Amino acid sequence: MRKTFLITGIAIALILLLNPGFLKAKSSVINHAEFAGLSLPDESMDQQEKDLGIGPVKSVVLGPLNSKMAGEGKVIYTNQCIMCHDIDQNKLGPALKNVTKTRTPEYIMNILLNPVQMQKENATVKALLAKYNNLPMPDPALNQAKARSVLEYLRSLVK
Ligand code: HEC
Repeated sequence: MRKTFLITGIAIALILLLNPGFLKAKSSVINHAEFAGLSLPDESMDQQEKDLGIGPVKSVVLGPLNSKMAGEGKVIYTNQCIMCHDIDQNKLGPALKNVTKTRTPEYIMNILLNPVQMQKENATVKALLAKYNNLPMPDPALNQAKARSVLEYLRSLVK
């Protein structure tokens, strides 16, 4: 009984003694570039900085501007978006002229396809909601092809 007590005591003392060194060693490993290679891709800084939004679109590959798609997107924008989104000025919703510079294409398509969940769970959209009088953008009910055309139109607005 006394022996167990002693061993436990020594073990605790050892852990306490070694722990600061152990923690230090660990943090220096974290600082090493090679550690980044071990971390999961979505934990890397790149992924955190690139807000892809939440929804079905995980990756968009952009080519040169497709003016046919941009034309189709413009029709949708004029019918369904312009009442809230001016191109140059904030209205009921933010101006969208430079949105393709400030947001990723994935985020833009996801907010068009899945606005309700993004309003609840995406930090950027939650902040926008607060800024725009808690007006939740209604689901425009677009399919992916149409959302992609709208994205192309938004790309065409950037001068
Ligand atoms: C009833 C008004 C309304 C309509 C209609 C509307 N939106 Fe919105 N939109 C908003 C508001 C308000 C926000 C800010 C986020 C929120 O409150 O949900 C927003 C946010 C956005 C954002 C994100 C902007 C950013 O800086 O992150 C994009 C992109 C967008 N809307 C595009 C569109 C497009 C394209 C359409 C048409 C298919 C559309 N919206 C229709 C009101 C609207």
